[in-house]
Amino acid sequence: MHAPLYLIRPEVASDDAEIEALHDLAFGPGRFARTAHRLREGVPHDPDLSLVALFGHRLGGSVRLTPIRIGDEPALLLGPLAVHPDFGNRGAGRALVRASLDEARRRGHRMVLLVGDEPYYGPLGFRHVPPARVQLPGPVDPKRVLIAELVPGAYEAAQGLAKNWRW
Ligand SMILES: CC(C)(COP(=O)(O)OP(=O)(O)OC[C@H]1O[C@@H](n2cnc3c(N)ncnc32)[C@H](O)[C@@H]1OP(=O)(O)O)[C@@H](O)C(=O)NCCC(=O)NCCS
Repeated sequence: MHAPLYLIRPEVASDDAEIEALHDLAFGPGRFARTAHRLREGVPHDPDLSLVALFGHRLGGSVRLTPIRIGDEPALLLGPLAVHPDFGNRGAGRALVRASLDEARRRGHRMVLLVGDEPYYGPLGFRHVPPARVQLPGPVDPKRVLIAELVPGAYEAAQGLAKNWRW
């Protein structure tokens, strides 16, 4: 068996600049206008659930999870997820998502929402949630609204407007 090419660990404050640069590269300045950004604006991401992938000394990947509500139920928003193109297609993106979901489950969280591509996130436990069940506070392609339940049955509680934790 090959040794892993990267190490996953929780994000620390000194990773901030590298993560910002990675987000800039992956999403560009338009990222601040996205509906997912509105959902996490002004709310610190959860440092225990937000992870980075290190390739040697380089920070090559990052995932952040932020508390939100869906209706009155606490939930997490996953994103941004980004892997630097130098380190793409080595499994780091999927490993970051899996590790953050495992840690969230371990800490008693029940469900995770994201806006993303079902073909990528479906095999990681996410499924499409129709707009009749969950609405987002801004424009979004309804096919890209996905939820993973961390405990059986949690999906049933996902009803209503997804809200920023501070609203
Ligand atoms: C999407 C992203 C996180 C994937 O990271 P990664 O470490 O290269 O992904 P992995 O190595 O875990 O997985 C690679 C596989 O996912 C597939 N994949 C990548 N992006 C995909 C997408 N948007 N939809 C479907 N499949 C996708 C690849 O084709 C590859 O498939 P294969 O295993 O059959 O060859 C990375 O490309 C990235 O940061 N992109 C720009 C930002 C972005 O789109 N983030 C996601 C926001 S929803």
